[in-house]
Amino acid sequence: MTAEPNAPGGAGSWQARDSRHYLHPFTDHHDLGQAGARIIERAEGCYVFDEHGQRILDGMAGLWCVNLGYGRDDLVDAATRQMHELPYYNSFFQTAHPPAIELAERIASIAPVGFELTFFTGSGSEANDTNIKLVRRYWDLEGKPEKRHIISRKNAYHGSTVAAAVLGGMGPMHEQLGPMVNFIHHIEQPYHFGLGREQDPAAFGLAQARLLESKIRQLGAENVAAFIGEPVQGAGGVIIPPDSYWPEVQRICRKYDILLIADEVITGFGRLGEWFGCQRLGIQPDLITFAKGVTSGYLPLGGVVVGERVASVMRVKGGEFAHGYTYSGHPAVCAVALANIAAMEREGVIDRVREETAPALADGLASLADHPLVGETRSIGLMGAIEIVADPVTGERFDEELHVGSRCRNFCFDNGLVMRAVGDSMIVAPPLVISPAQIDELVNTARRCLDLTGDWIASQE
Ligand SMILES: Cc1ncc(COP(=O)(O)O)c(C=O)c1O
Repeated sequence: MTAEPNAPGGAGSWQARDSRHYLHPFTDHHDLGQAGARIIERAEGCYVFDEHGQRILDGMAGLWCVNLGYGRDDLVDAATRQMHELPYYNSFFQTAHPPAIELAERIASIAPVGFELTFFTGSGSEANDTNIKLVRRYWDLEGKPEKRHIISRKNAYHGSTVAAAVLGGMGPMHEQLGPMVNFIHHIEQPYHFGLGREQDPAAFGLAQARLLESKIRQLGAENVAAFIGEPVQGAGGVIIPPDSYWPEVQRICRKYDILLIADEVITGFGRLGEWFGCQRLGIQPDLITFAKGVTSGYLPLGGVVVGERVASVMRVKGGEFAHGYTYSGHPAVCAVALANIAAMEREGVIDRVREETAPALADGLASLADHPLVGETRSIGLMGAIEIVADPVTGERFDEELHVGSRCRNFCFDNGLVMRAVGDSMIVAPPLVISPAQIDELVNTARRCLDLTGDWIASQE
């Protein structure tokens, strides 16, 4: 009998073909050539299956996006139907089509009051590039073109295009870009465990928010266009700001007449138990970035929901907004988003997150706090973190060279759980349809993998 052409290990295996031809995002290609990629072949519900048939609980919902889980016929059918009807048309130069119009209308119905207008992109990165142009356009139309500087935060993630990467605050991304955009500035983040665990959280939150005020004063408020922040930093390590943080940021933005952009690419569409994270945290932004969960990741879509302040100026003062993408408002993608939103509503997904599964995840993660490697656990909605430390009392970290977080992540994968490592912070953001029993499975596997990580660390001493 001849072997399967893609059989693992051979020259024709998926791994071999992958490392020969596929340049991966966020991957060290030297390591990839040595170890090979993990090949995921199919998925169902909250589980993915690798090429060996191993079932793995997807604790990251793909990349924070597969909110309704895998294998949803309703989303597939919506795309198929729309592709038969109108597979593509654009919205440039005063044209439009029903799916984009319906979706924009639908988003207005679930967004905070005063958010009536949506711009569509193909991704969160493109949406944040759009934000940069939107705030410029707004201040130009307002007769204040010198307001062009944007303030962001260290360790923020706002995407991977050149502008979005500079807008973000990820050191390794900046290192590979060099100083390319000189109107974006970064202040320190509200990371209590990492930067201020010895301080009272409320005082720490206020102090971190006031860094914004100092930066605005340093640049001159007349030069500052906007502040951008994720309501809860996701890729940075599920950094949940103290309750005092956002109200103070909001106050400062108002005081100095600075637009506030909430990047809700992760927190939008239900992850915090509301349609948008700013509804949960009481933030009143001017622009909201979204992507990912809007289609549960079945097709790529992002965008900006534009608040009344900016929308009314663009409508009243007019002039072409010289910006757009071929796939802005792609009909099939919009049809999937509409089906996704309808299913979330019909199935009460967000209520279940708020009332059942978010509390279950919080309890489950809290039960890990007694583990000798754990310095802190935290969660909000269905996103959470476990801080791995050498000393839970002082919060001292392990030697970076040990790459303890990556070790733990690999143990998780091998034992049937996707959990992501951000340094030595382990993070989870499962599909919003995860059940309490699956949350137990996630937590039990995490404990087992923390044990394995502890054994491995001991073996290195
Ligand atoms: C908060 C945030 N903004 C923007 C992005 C970029 O989105 P995309 O990868 O769709 O460009 C991400 C992606 O993870 C994100 O988490």
